[in-house]
Amino acid sequence: MIIAIDGPAAAGKGTLARRLADELGLAYLDTGLLYRATGKRVLEAGADPEDAAAAEAQARALEPRDLERTDLRVDEVAQAASKVSAVPGVRAALLDFQRTFAATPPGGAKGAVLDGRDVGTVICPGADVKFFITASDEVRATRRHKELQEKDPDVIYARVLEEMRERDARDKSRAVAPLEPAEDAILIDTSGMNADEVFAQALDIVSNK
Ligand code: DC
Repeated sequence: MIIAIDGPAAAGKGTLARRLADELGLAYLDTGLLYRATGKRVLEAGADPEDAAAAEAQARALEPRDLERTDLRVDEVAQAASKVSAVPGVRAALLDFQRTFAATPPGGAKGAVLDGRDVGTVICPGADVKFFITASDEVRATRRHKELQEKDPDVIYARVLEEMRERDARDKSRAVAPLEPAEDAILIDTSGMNADEVFAQALDIVSNK
């Protein structure tokens, strides 16, 4: 069983993916982490995330411990991730790892849940269930703002909204594997839903497959 979950930033993909994986005994891969870790490596090397050669070299040099870093969930890294993810060589470098994870999930799990931007369209086009999770810009920014405020009470809502819109626009408009729903994806707009409701609806859909 392979479940693909795509959608824009802060739509609730990660929360849903983790809960489905726990409930169904599947392995979980946050594919965004691969791009964040690549972006972080580029920044640390003092290079420009839009420099295609530098970005691809860092994607190819990625090691398991890069994914375990605890400093990848900040704006600067999210933007760098979005920039490196538009480089075709970066996407090519990360493809095999994601497909292998889905085909032979670690820990002997009987399947996998992957979340990202192109899981249903490019990474696992044959996935058993594909979700495209969205919510209005304002709802997503409010959720992200609340989350960030727990670490930094001074974080400004307008900046969170702007950062998110900038990243989504870049992710949607890139030439390779842009953010878009697969033709056979099930769309869930979570604007008026809480995490429990999203999980219940998605589990219902998966159970009926
Ligand atoms: O899901 P996230 O916010 O951690 O992703 C960070 C960036 O990585 C996102 O803005 C675009 C890129 N990304 C991608 O291009 N393809 C994926 N499958 C996952 C993430």
